This record gives sequence, C-alpha cells and structure tokens, in this order.
Amino acid sequence: MLSVESVTRIFGQNIAVDHATFVVDRPAMIGIIGRSGAGKSTFLRMMNRLTDATSGIIRFEGRNILELQGAEKRAWQSQCAMIFQQFNLVPRMDVVSNVLHGTLNRRSTLASVFNLFPKADIHRAIDILERLGIAEQAPKRAEALSGGQQQRVAIARALMQDPKIILADEPIASLDPMNAQIVMDTLRRIHEEDGRMVIANLHTLDTARRYCDRVIGMRAGRIVFDGTPEQLTTGVARDIYGADENFSEAATSTSIETLETAAYREAMLA
Ligand SMILES: Nc1ncnc2c1ncn2[C@@H]1O[C@H](COP(=O)(O)OP(=O)(O)O)[C@@H](O)[C@H]1O
Ligand SMILES: [Mg+2]
Repeated sequence: MLSVESVTRIFGQNIAVDHATFVVDRPAMIGIIGRSGAGKSTFLRMMNRLTDATSGIIRFEGRNILELQGAEKRAWQSQCAMIFQQFNLVPRMDVVSNVLHGTLNRRSTLASVFNLFPKADIHRAIDILERLGIAEQAPKRAEALSGGQQQRVAIARALMQDPKIILADEPIASLDPMNAQIVMDTLRRIHEEDGRMVIANLHTLDTARRYCDRVIGMRAGRIVFDGTPEQLTTGVARDIYGADENFSEAATSTSIETLETAAYREAMLA
C-alpha cells in the first residue's frame, strides 16, 4: 500500500535523506529512529509534501504522491495528518476550535474567516475528544492544558481529517513519562481500532520497541535497519546510533520504563 522508492533529499552539499527505500503492505505502526540529523523529519515532511524530494518515488495506493499538485496535493495532505513535538495548536483558541481546524481545507475561506463550523463537525469534534478522554477540556483555551492533553488535542485535530496515515514527528519528546505513555497508547489505539497507519519519528529506542510493529533505523540519511522490535538488538542499535557517539542503553531508553515509579509518586503526592 505504501512503497518508498529511492527517495532522496539534498540540501546544498548535505544529503538529508539518501535513497530511502521500503515497502509497507498493511497499515502498520512504524517507528523511525536515529540520531538527531539522521533525516527522520525530512522524510516525514516529504511524505506530507511539506518539503519536496530531490528524487525518488513515494507510491501510496498506486499513485506517486510526490507528483501531486494543487487540489490533489492538498487532498493528500489531509489524508496524511501531521503531529509535531510542539503540538502546533493555536494557544489562545479553545480546544474544540483547535480540533475543528482539522477540517479547514474542506471549508470555504469565508466560513473559516468567521470561524463558522457546521453543527455536524462540532459534534464530531466533541466525539473525538471524548474518545481521547479529554472532552471535559473542550471549552478551555489550548494553552491552559498540560502538554499531554495538548498533544491529544493535536491528535484529535488530525483525526478530524479522517486520515489514512498519521505522521508523528517526535510526538512525545516534550512530554513527561506519564503523558508520553498516554500519547503513545493513544496513537497505538488509533492504529489498532481504526486501522490507520502510523509513522512516528521517535527519539528513544524503547518507545519504538514497545509500541511499533516495525522499526526503521536511519543513520546519516540512510536506512540502516528495517525490522521488527525483536530484531532490534543492542548491536543493531549501536549501528544506528553510532558506536563512538554517546550510545548506551541508558541514553536511548526513555523514562517510560520508570513510569510505574512516576505513577506511584504522583499517587502518593495527590
Ligand atoms: N531546511 C533545511 N535546510 C538545510 N538543511 C536541512 C534542512 N532541513 C534539514 N536539513 C538537514 O538535513 C539533515 C537531516 O535533518 P532532519 O531531517 O531534521 O533530521 P532528524 O529529524 O533526524 O533530526 C540535517 O543535516 C539537517 O541539518
Ligand atoms: Mg527531527
């Protein structure tokens, strides 16, 4: 269903993504790992057409999405919703309006300017917030929410587009372990329940191991690993992260492992 064929992106002298090639034949949950600068974000941005590829093909359900222009390109962009590390919500706007913005490219400019949303969309937005466990936050300003809640609002906004693919660029890098777990659980659940493909850039190894069906390791623009979490041994991880760089299980392991402790502490302090 998704076929990435020799996709390359060059910035000046720098090859950010170097002939990336892989095939996904069902809506899997895929983690992309690698050091900072490995090319993870550039890859997601090419998928979403936020940046152009220098060469290569990305085929989704038969079409080369790198060639789409105009309305077709915009339609593709709403089929693959993006989630970012910094949530990218409108901070002073209420939560429901933020979620409704996921329908913006379907609506007329006039309706958008006046913040007019069809009733059916408002109901849908609230249903999605309910599903993600944050419906009670609906009237609040986005900035009043915790990071984990804000990221769930961003996921709700993405779901409003009814996307086939969710592209998440380090979705938990700004979150504490507790919220990181909630957000990853949410993405996993959306993947399993809705059959949506999720491709997430993850800065830590064990989040990828724990949540993904398949892990792609990038180093200096190249895919140096593509396999299951079980195949992602310490040796492979060293290869992805580089032997001499500060690789260690500790450096690449999130504090998600210590979640039980964090939950315990919070319960004790409550
Ligand atoms: N807009 C850009 N202009 C020039 N170089 C860029 C740009 N975006 C990314 N790069 C370079 O491409 C490489 C890959 O970056 P990026 O995709 O952000 O990596 P990652 O997300 O894995 O940290 C880096 O060397 C980065 O400096
Ligand atoms: Mg990045």
